[in-house]
Amino acid sequence: MELIDGKQISNDIKAEIAAEVEKLLNTNSKVPHLAAVLVGEDPASQTYVASKEKSCHEVGFVSSLYKYPETISEAELLKVVDFINEDEEIDGFIVQLPLPKHISVDKIIERIKPSKDVDGFHPVNVGRMNIGLPSYISATPFGIVELLKRYKIETEGKHCVVLGRSNIVGTPISILMSRNTNPGNCTVTLCHSKTKNLKEICSQADILIVAIGKPEFVTEDMVKDGAVVIDVGIHRVESKLTKSGFKLIGDVKFDEVSKKCSFITPVPGGVGPMTIASLLLNTFKAAKKEVYK
Ligand code: GUN
Repeated sequence: MELIDGKQISNDIKAEIAAEVEKLLNTNSKVPHLAAVLVGEDPASQTYVASKEKSCHEVGFVSSLYKYPETISEAELLKVVDFINEDEEIDGFIVQLPLPKHISVDKIIERIKPSKDVDGFHPVNVGRMNIGLPSYISATPFGIVELLKRYKIETEGKHCVVLGRSNIVGTPISILMSRNTNPGNCTVTLCHSKTKNLKEICSQADILIVAIGKPEFVTEDMVKDGAVVIDVGIHRVESKLTKSGFKLIGDVKFDEVSKKCSFITPVPGGVGPMTIASLLLNTFKAAKKEVYK
């Protein structure tokens, strides 16, 4: 079994981006600029945004933060989006989710200019991705594809089973894995809460991508010998073995499943670290106008 080291790959990608930024600086060219909009005081969102800003600085991007109280109205937030859409200094931006209940996430996302939507959440980017046009692909599916690519994992003709049909992970990764690309060219089965014979289907997977949001849901008896297992889940649970009293676990029962796999992503340190690397890559594409000319 080989561990897929997302932390290492993410660091490699950051180093590659930093080298490109260095070249831009040497020619006095503009460096990429990522903005983040943060509403309210949700601790997880604050941590995510801080970590996105830190990564921008590590690679030499400019980053800016637009911070608003929980009480901001939907109309005001739409104005913020309009303002950033028109700011030519900013190449791409994200509106950190979740948003307060009185604000429609769909309305806000649809207002973001697709050419600046480096989260890849706008329906135009989702639609373009679906039909194979250049687009921003959202961070998690993009990260998974990048891991498969960099570990040179053979995907053509393989049976890929995806657990979970969310808009930001399960659905897009099932499309990416079925496309005529490398990685891709898989026969894909997308499973969800109403799927029957889940164990039987999972046991047929050459590549099993798990984004079901249930701690240690996938057990040894659901996995074929030699399968590639990608675990998207992340859960903080109590543990007597750590100083903090908590540990992070995935959607896959790692200790038993890892014994049967050819490759597996650990939690933490697998898919997680790839999401920021993906965001930085999308921001670089935005700055280079690679997706929208
Ligand atoms: N909240 C949790 N993950 C994400 C993400 O990838 N993008 C945004 N905008 N919000 C999030």
